[in-house]
Amino acid sequence: MQPALENAFDLLEQSLIRYEGRPVGTIASSDPRAPAENYLDCFIRDFVPSAFIFLLEGRSEIVRDFLQLIVELRGQQDQMEGQQPLPGVLPASFKVRRRADGHEEIHADFGDRAIGRVAPVDSMMWWILLLRAYVRSTGDTAFAHSVEAQRTLRQIMSVALQGRFEVFPTLLVPDGSFMVDRRMGVYGHPLEIQALFFAALHAVRELLPETDENAWIRDLAARRQSVLADYVRRYYWLDIARLNEIHRYQTEMFGTDVDNILNLYPESIPDWVPDWLPDDSGYLVGNLGPGRMDFRFFANGNLLATIFGLARDGQGERILSTFEQRWDDLVGQMPVKLCYPAMVGKEWHLMTGSDPKNPPWSYHNGGNWPVLLWPFVAAALRVDRRDLAERALEIAARRLHVDQWPEYYDGRHGRLIGRRANFHQTWSATALILAERFLHEPAALAKLGLGPAEVS
Ligand code: GLC
Repeated sequence: MQPALENAFDLLEQSLIRYEGRPVGTIASSDPRAPAENYLDCFIRDFVPSAFIFLLEGRSEIVRDFLQLIVELRGQQDQMEGQQPLPGVLPASFKVRRRADGHEEIHADFGDRAIGRVAPVDSMMWWILLLRAYVRSTGDTAFAHSVEAQRTLRQIMSVALQGRFEVFPTLLVPDGSFMVDRRMGVYGHPLEIQALFFAALHAVRELLPETDENAWIRDLAARRQSVLADYVRRYYWLDIARLNEIHRYQTEMFGTDVDNILNLYPESIPDWVPDWLPDDSGYLVGNLGPGRMDFRFFANGNLLATIFGLARDGQGERILSTFEQRWDDLVGQMPVKLCYPAMVGKEWHLMTGSDPKNPPWSYHNGGNWPVLLWPFVAAALRVDRRDLAERALEIAARRLHVDQWPEYYDGRHGRLIGRRANFHQTWSATALILAERFLHEPAALAKLGLGPAEVS
C-alpha cells in the first residue's frame, strides 16, 4: 500500500496548475500521450477528489483559490451558437495559458469547445458541494458569505430551479451533462444528476444565510429537495417486489389516481433484469421519464444517492448488498463498473451514435473506473459495510500503481487496461488516496459534507 500511496501523492503534486504563482487546480491527466488536448485542463468534477485531499491535508487555500477562480469565470462564456449565456452556468474545465510575453490567461470551456458540445450541469452542483466542504473543514464562513460567492449560489439556484415545461421534480438535462459526457442515452433525468441536485439543494441552505433576500430561494430549495426525494425513492427504486409490479402493470391509464403514472410498458423490461436482480436487495434505476425506465445500473448515481441520503434508509444498505451479490459484474477486477450492462449491437449503434470510444464493455459503456473507488468506500462506510470498502480498496491498490493509474479499464470484469485510456490520470490516484483515508479516518466524511442530508 505504501509505495502506491506515495506514488499517488507524487502524481497529485505533479498535476497542480498554477495561476499567478498560486496553485488553483489539477490537470486531468499527466500522460504526455493523452489523446485529447483538454486532458491538460482542470475539470471541475475531476478536481473534487483532489480538493478533498487538500482540505484534509490542511492545504485549504488551494481549494479557496479554485472556488474563487470559478466564481470569476462564470458568465464569461462566449455566445454559443447564438445562444445568450446564463449567468449561473459554470465551466466544465479551464486551463492557464502563458503568452510569449509571460502574461497568463485563463481559458474556460463551458461546453462551447467540448467534444460534442456537452453541457456540464454537474459543475454547478460540485461547486456548491465543494464550497460546503471548504466551509466545514476550515470554518471560513466569511468566504461563503462574500458578495460574489452568495451571488453565484443564487444564480446557480435560479438556473436550476426556474420553471420549465416539466411535470417532474427531477432536473431535466441534455445528454452527456455529467461524468458520462458523451452520448449514451443519458438525457432526461439521469440518476447521477438527481443525486447531486438533491445534495446541492441541501447544501445551499447551509450556505445562504436566512435573510429576507434569501427566503424565497431557501423555501424553494427545501420544497424541491423534499419532493425530489419522495419521487426518486418511490419511482427510481427497483427491487423484486417493484419489478413484479411493473411486470403486471396496466397501461394507458388516464387520470390522477393511477399506479403506472409514467405509462411504462411491461414489455420494456430488458431480458437481463429479472435474472440479474438479486432477491433481497435493489438499486435506483439510471433514468426515468414518460414511457421510459432505463434499467441500467449506474454506479456513481447509486453511490452518491447512498452517501447523501437520497436513497432512503434501508435502500442504501440494499444498494451495497447488490454490489456484494453481483460483485463480478459491478466490481470485478477493478472497482467500479460505471454502468451495467453494456449496450451492444443495434442498441449501441442507436444510443451512442456508433461511438467507437464507447464500444461494449469499455469507457462509459461498461468500463471500470478507478475514480469510483472513493464514492464506493464512502457509501459502504455510510451503511456500515466496511468489509466491502476494504475488499474494493485491496483490489484497486494491487493494480493501479503498477498499471500507472489508468483512467479506466475494459472488459466485462475490468481486467484489461482501457484501450484508449490515459495513464497518470489524476482522479484515479486521488480516489485511492481518499479511499484509504476514509477507511482510516471515517470522521473525514462528515468534515467534507459527505453525509446524509435531512429532508425537512
Ligand atoms: C472524460 C470523462 C469525464 C472527465 C474527463 C476528464 O471526458 O468522461 O468525466 O471529466 O474525461 O478526465
